Order: sequence, then structure tokens, then C-alpha cells
Amino acid sequence: MNNPHTILELFARKGSLAYEGEGISQIAHAWQCGQLARAAGASQSLQLASWLHDLGHLLTDLSGSPTVQGIDDQHEHRAARMLDAIWGPAVAEPVRLHVAAKRYLVAAHPEYCERLSPDSVRSLALQGGPMNLSECVRFQASRYALDAQQLRAWDDSSKHVGWFASDAQHALDELRGLMDRVRYLPA
Ligand SMILES: [Fe+2]
Ligand SMILES: [Fe+2]
Repeated sequence: MNNPHTILELFARKGSLAYEGEGISQIAHAWQCGQLARAAGASQSLQLASWLHDLGHLLTDLSGSPTVQGIDDQHEHRAARMLDAIWGPAVAEPVRLHVAAKRYLVAAHPEYCERLSPDSVRSLALQGGPMNLSECVRFQASRYALDAQQLRAWDDSSKHVGWFASDAQHALDELRGLMDRVRYLPA
């Protein structure tokens, strides 16, 4: 079901799962990304997108890190479909494009590769590798390309072991409050 309650329930039930290969939990990664977006003064929609960019990992029954098994779980598309129905493209599109943003940044700024975690490097190959020129041009033309690149930078910096809210319930309360403040905006 596409509603905020379903998302909160997913994080309550599965958020403590390890973000395998990264050394932290799914909810800690999500929370850190949301904190960095807020600290940077991002819009409420982009803060919510940052919080929920990896929601797609919780929407599958794949265990562990799918990339280790050579599987691209298409998590960005799974999450974006759900988020678009609830809040519209301002939340959904940066999420849909956060993998494309990695492929773009690796192509446009090769030194960016050094910032990527081993799991992100592994998944990059499964996700198509660096963009070619025409893919870069198409990506740059997207209305949400800049949002997606910002989200990507916060995503890459959201893998700190030991940085989290006082507890998971506190983090979920923050997420609920943010969800309440974001209104549906059509394209
Ligand atoms: Fe992701
Ligand atoms: Fe992520």
C-alpha cells in the first residue's frame, strides 16, 4: 500500500537490518542522509527524498547485500514508484535518479570514484557502469539532476558507524514529522 504508515512500518520492522557491506543499519544510513540534507538547508521534499532514497531495499525480500550475489535490485525504481504516488516527483525523482547520479558523477568526475564505498563500486558495474556521453547529456537535462547529485553526495557520506539518533523510535518520530510536513505536489 502506498502511504506514509506503510513506510514507517517497514522501517520499524526492517530498519535494523544491516546495510551489508557498509557496517551500519538501513535506518542509520537513512537517518544520516536525512540529517546531512537538513544541515545543508535542503527543501523538505529533498530532505524526505534523502531519508527514503534506499527504501527500495526494504521493499524486496532479498537478504543481505544483493550486489554480493551479482543482483541489481532496482531499488531506486521500486522506491520511486511508491513515493511518486504519495508525494509526487519532488520526492520521487531524486530517489529514482540517485543511482543514475552515481553513474553520471563517475563519468563526469572520475576522481569521484575514490569517494565510493566498496559496495557502491560493486553495484556500479551491475547498474551499467559510468554513463556514456549521450546518457550524461540526457541526465543533465533532467529537472531533478542537481537534486539527485546533492542527494548522492549525502548518500556517500552517510555510512558512519556509531552516528545515529538516541534510538530508533526517536529517528522514526523525526521521519513521521517530516512526512507530515511534505505535501503532495504534482509534476
Ligand atoms: Fe541506493
Ligand atoms: Fe544509500
